[in-house]
Amino acid sequence: MTEAEIVPGLEQARAFAAAKHGLFIGGQWVEPLAGERFATRDPATGAVLAKAARGLTEDVDAAVAAARKAMDNPAWTEMKPSVRALLLFRLADALEAHADEFAALECLDNGKPFRDARFFDVPYAVELLRYNAGWATKLNGESIALSGPGTWHAYTLKEPVGVVAQIVPWNAPLAMAVAKVAPALAAGCAVILKPAEETPMTALRLAHLIAEAGFPEGVFNLVTGFGEQAGAALTAHPGVDKVTFTGSTEVGRMIIKAATGNFKRVTLELGGKTPVIVMPDADVAKATEGAARSIFANAGQICNAGSRLFVHERHFEQVVEGVAKVAEATKIGPGFAADTQMGPVISAQQRDRIEGYIKGGVAAGATLRASGGDLPGEGYFVKPTVLTGTSADMAVRREEIFGPVLCAMSFGDADLEKIAADANATDYGLGAVIWTNDLSAAHRLAKKLKAGTVRVNGGGLDPALPFGGFKQSGWGRENGREGIDAYLETKSVAMALL
Ligand code: NAI
Ligand code: MG
Repeated sequence: MTEAEIVPGLEQARAFAAAKHGLFIGGQWVEPLAGERFATRDPATGAVLAKAARGLTEDVDAAVAAARKAMDNPAWTEMKPSVRALLLFRLADALEAHADEFAALECLDNGKPFRDARFFDVPYAVELLRYNAGWATKLNGESIALSGPGTWHAYTLKEPVGVVAQIVPWNAPLAMAVAKVAPALAAGCAVILKPAEETPMTALRLAHLIAEAGFPEGVFNLVTGFGEQAGAALTAHPGVDKVTFTGSTEVGRMIIKAATGNFKRVTLELGGKTPVIVMPDADVAKATEGAARSIFANAGQICNAGSRLFVHERHFEQVVEGVAKVAEATKIGPGFAADTQMGPVISAQQRDRIEGYIKGGVAAGATLRASGGDLPGEGYFVKPTVLTGTSADMAVRREEIFGPVLCAMSFGDADLEKIAADANATDYGLGAVIWTNDLSAAHRLAKKLKAGTVRVNGGGLDPALPFGGFKQSGWGRENGREGIDAYLETKSVAMALL
């Protein structure tokens, strides 16, 4: 089998990556004003994949001006909701038609297995567009019954929040970008998207499809560049009404501060340290498989990765052994090889960071139960790792690692209060997973867990299901009705009937 047979869109993806890339501002591809570019690397080899334009403050100014103009342009502000929906449906069809190319591009830029991109990231992005397109025609206010003296007619209107800066990370670059762009456009906002400096390729390709879909100029703008430059300029800009961000807790904090100038609305989707709880009555085989998938998928680079495993002592050895076997059998390799199950992590820096956590945990007394698979040469590869004997104060157990590193713990009795307290003993609160066949235990525990999403016996991400964090995992929700509400302001209109 040739590489091109395994990865159908590879040739187009490579050709696209090799092209000259600008910034997309006001409906035009433009040169970055300072004329600078930066290289992005293929994480499987470390070789330069492409060069993207380095957007700086003055490019951000131009993008914000274009977006503001779009919010004054009746072609956008007066566009019928059904036409906004149609444009998004059209974009979904175009993305679907180019699924192979997008998946190959994601695989080259991010490192993830082609199959994962082709059968998860790209179809999920398509579904996000279609789901949010459906909302465009359903953004109604309500009529309100007032109790004051006189006769009144009062109602609310749902209006777009305005110009939105959208800053996304590198772990699922296309899906994350679309999760932000789709509801914002459905709501009638104008957008400036800034992809992560590690992975700008699919956002660039998406901008071409958006340009072809027929959105008025300035409704969607793309500024590639670095977080501390283009990103920081966007979050501080007085012309930006809202920032939506997915990334580190540290940058989330900086964004809150930067947003104070003009009281920007802020939605933050930050880190996690998701507990996976295996109850005594769980289906052990399914729980083991689920626990392994939850931490090893995308090489653990998922905000919601199940990085803390709590297993009832009756099954502890069996589950740990099972997950360790998966780790050791995992085929690690470049994303475009047919037999690869786990690709590289995003960068040498992330690899070193992950390895630092593992070494730190072992030095502090943790036991290495599995450190699996052979590492294939160059590239930023990390072995899937299982640790037991960690204590609550160890960094490996407390902090978000964003790598394929699992800390496994056992618990003795099935006291739900105690299980929840251990699971909740983290600054984060993004997700939690429960494996049980006891309906009462499932619902009772779901209520006690401080997490934005609780999954029982599997269950995944869906455009209709609100997603976001309690505690330091963020502010607000993406997806579902709440996800689109985050791009709307409520206006109350009260009229006295004289
Ligand atoms: P990061 O938070 O620095 O980067 C995410 C995005 O924020 C990128 O687009 C970046 O350009 C931008 N950014 C960086 N600094 C900024 C600033 N001052 N102002 C505005 N935008 C800025 O994350 P990084 O450094 O790539 O990864 C570090 C750790 O963060 C990871 O190990 C992981 O623990 C966590 N992380 C969590 C993610 C999640 O999905 N919740 C995604 C990516 C990283
Ligand atoms: Mg950073």
